[in-house]
Amino acid sequence: MVCLGNICRSPLAEGVLQEKINRKGLDIKVDSAGTGSWHVGQGPDLRAVAIAKKYGVDISHQQARQFSATDFDDFDIIYAMDGSNLSDIVSLARSNEDIEKVRLILDELNIGNNNYVPDPYYGGDEGFEKVYELLDAACEIITKEM
Ligand code: 4NP
Repeated sequence: MVCLGNICRSPLAEGVLQEKINRKGLDIKVDSAGTGSWHVGQGPDLRAVAIAKKYGVDISHQQARQFSATDFDDFDIIYAMDGSNLSDIVSLARSNEDIEKVRLILDELNIGNNNYVPDPYYGGDEGFEKVYELLDAACEIITKEM
């Protein structure tokens, strides 16, 4: 799960998907990262922690890190939150095989292609509620296919 800062959207996506996987009793590793380095080492934004907690998901232990090319070796699928994340990830790809691993997470929803998870960083709490709703719906579809 990859966004820009790895403190708002992708930590939520990691937490929501890992929770659904755990509930199914599957042994699949989920992680998240940011394309940027500003927040490396920090915990998630407190508004993201709060919205996750409201729905029974604990993301407070997560620590931001920056996406790197070795993530193409370590993961089978790489979900980007928006088109900017997607192009930043693809710019680090070393092969077509790497590029084929990258998807927009909201393309999992049947609402048309190229939908982006809006960046909630500069907005209010309702932005985090919307992000949670979108990610929960997408992760529900992802786990159904597992
Ligand atoms: P995220 O949100 O990409 O969902 O983690 C952001 C967090 C921080 C910044 C931008 C977006 N920032 O500019 O510091």
